Amino acid sequence: MTRHFLRDDDLTPAEQAEVLDLAARAKADRFGLRPLEGPRTVAVLFDKSSTRTRISFATGIAELGGHALIMDAGTSQLGRGETIADTARVLERQVSAIVWRTGGQERIEEMAEGTTVPVVNALTDAFHPCQILADLQTVREAKGALAGVTLAYLGDGANNMAHSYLLGCATAGMHVRIGGPAAQPPDAGVVARATEIAAATGGSVTVTDDPARAAGGADVLATDTWVSMGEEGKGTALYEPYAVDEKLLALADPEAIVLHCLPAYRGKEIAASVLDGPRSRVWDEAENRLHAQKALLAWLLERSP
Ligand code: CP
Ligand code: NVA
Repeated sequence: MTRHFLRDDDLTPAEQAEVLDLAARAKADRFGLRPLEGPRTVAVLFDKSSTRTRISFATGIAELGGHALIMDAGTSQLGRGETIADTARVLERQVSAIVWRTGGQERIEEMAEGTTVPVVNALTDAFHPCQILADLQTVREAKGALAGVTLAYLGDGANNMAHSYLLGCATAGMHVRIGGPAAQPPDAGVVARATEIAAATGGSVTVTDDPARAAGGADVLATDTWVSMGEEGKGTALYEPYAVDEKLLALADPEAIVLHCLPAYRGKEIAASVLDGPRSRVWDEAENRLHAQKALLAWLLERSP
């Protein structure tokens, strides 16, 4: 059966560990993994802006021996009303995998239902699971392990990053805390699923509107823009107490590292001194998109007909 990666819990704890082990190997031996030799083509489709996702998939697919077909929605018939199902049927006759950045989660689910090749979520409104694989690789490099590590995410608790941290960190057996305004909570279904996963992996899930409770003693502080793509013009005053600044960082473990998926807005969700300071691992995190996604593609292709 074809395997897809549409949300973080599409990988079991053991499978997530396999992908992260492979990501570490892909980083150590950068040109050693060649599952796309031929070259086989991977379609990488964008309905929204991107810098890191575009660069890392294009680079990674080339390094796997393949060819990346990068397409913007605006220049494809998908952007003019051709159905997702018809697009999926055309793509599967020619490409080996489909990577898609789009809006509604139901869109990527429809793509996966309509095709026999693996589909990878390169960000939807609901989840950003490839980013969390890179973040987990970065945490593992810094802390030596994932199980038992506490990650606190502060800011917009209702966005794709918050949801993916909930599922991805719970899968890894981590303690995940979401600190954000009570008026903008994470999706209740995602919190329930993360709690269920954490119960089996030895992790835990905390959702709080108290930034100090979220950050206190944490091994990892993470944040994200307060204004996600498609939300332009929204008010941000309610997020200000959750800014990752020196004061908040002082509450975390003295050895805490700081993550941000980028793009970052200095002086908003993160202070410049923190983003550019000694505890920041954001550039490793951005690089690890490459290694984690190469591992993911290799892993999915090996398990798909
Ligand atoms: N972090 C991330 O996904 O960056 P891009 O939006 O630039 O791809
Ligand atoms: N939450 C952000 C992540 C960007 C990588 C967004 O959806 O715009």
